[in-house]
Amino acid sequence: MVRYTNKVVHLQDNELAILTRDGFSISTAQAKPIQRSMEIVEWRVEDADLDGFPHYMLKEIFEQPETIRNAIRGRLLMGEGVPKLGGIMPVWDRLKECHHMVLVACGTSYYAAYVGRYVFEKLTEIDVEVELASEFRYRKLNFPPNTFVIALSQSGETADTLAAIREAKRKGASLLGIVNVVGSSISRETEAGVYNHAGPEIGVASTKTFTSQLTILTLLALLLGRHQKLSLTEGMEVIKALQALPEQVQSILAQAHHIEAVAEKYYKCNNWLFLGRKYNFPIALEGALKLKEISYIHAEGYAAGEMKHGPIALINPGMPTVAIVPRDEMYEKMISNIQEIKSRRGPVIAIANEGDDKVRELVDDVIEIPSTLDFLIPILAVVPCQLLAYYCATLLNRDIDKPRNLAKSVTVE
Ligand code: G6P
Repeated sequence: MVRYTNKVVHLQDNELAILTRDGFSISTAQAKPIQRSMEIVEWRVEDADLDGFPHYMLKEIFEQPETIRNAIRGRLLMGEGVPKLGGIMPVWDRLKECHHMVLVACGTSYYAAYVGRYVFEKLTEIDVEVELASEFRYRKLNFPPNTFVIALSQSGETADTLAAIREAKRKGASLLGIVNVVGSSISRETEAGVYNHAGPEIGVASTKTFTSQLTILTLLALLLGRHQKLSLTEGMEVIKALQALPEQVQSILAQAHHIEAVAEKYYKCNNWLFLGRKYNFPIALEGALKLKEISYIHAEGYAAGEMKHGPIALINPGMPTVAIVPRDEMYEKMISNIQEIKSRRGPVIAIANEGDDKVRELVDDVIEIPSTLDFLIPILAVVPCQLLAYYCATLLNRDIDKPRNLAKSVTVE
């Protein structure tokens, strides 16, 4: 739509608009007139163009250094080791006293929430639950006083996520949104929130919004953590690491040709396994989802510790495993998972830190990522997964930006 106008008027449910050559009027379904002002959408036409890329998905993957920068732009106070998030100020007095949170979302946004839970546990003293929006209403969740429910959604229109926040409101929770589309239903129905400012995401499979969501969840956790247990030095360390992310993502994108070559080796395999632990367990889920969504290859994401409880039965020379194995506290355990796969002659593609010779000797292919704080690794580790999925799907001639049976915005429950 930005090709034609950047002026938008939002309609609420049960409202009617009459649009003429000279203007518009809005009324309720019962014909009661409503005054509503116009808003300006900040997206530009160039944001919605392919800009020389063959697909929107690839363009959006390559935009990530910029979208991460946009997520932190103007939001970091280095001297105080604390972020500044204007959008949550209306609820700040309540939020800073909050000890219980529920993160709700669907699809890729749900996996971002999943990483978010680990990050909140690391940086704050808040109890955090994460729930699929579509399951939320079936749960009898505990809502102690001053519970915050945070909805994560690229589109801000996902029906299940909307239904979940309505249910949470009924139960007395305060609502926050982490949303990309300004003025969307979720942004309107939550009390406050943080916008991603990632620009339009057109490829059906979400990429740049995911890394943006992870960045914003870290900002939020850091802000609350600094009001709880984190010291100034710890805060400054996180901010420094956040500022380094765009360049680090850029260095991964520079390996696109190598990742394409890895995809060429394995794209004919019909079953893939993705493994990770702790912060990178949800990245294993997201990596498998990306591959499924756009290449239609069957892939499973697993917490690596669960491998021995089932997936190990599938390992054979025709089934590649993508192992996320950064040099973090989970390193040795991931190495032994890889050894178990190799002893069953399963090919392993490792996403590992730069210069990790131990991993290199053990596996078939390595995609290197730079080092950062443990809880920021998912923002880097997901990028090779996105590119692997993209190149496999291209080699299989799939319809990358509009995969079969999928929709960008799922507005039915
Ligand atoms: C659809 C899209 C996914 C997205 C999910 C949640 O399934 O294809 O890419 O992750 O909806 O969408 P949301 O807009 O709420 O983040």
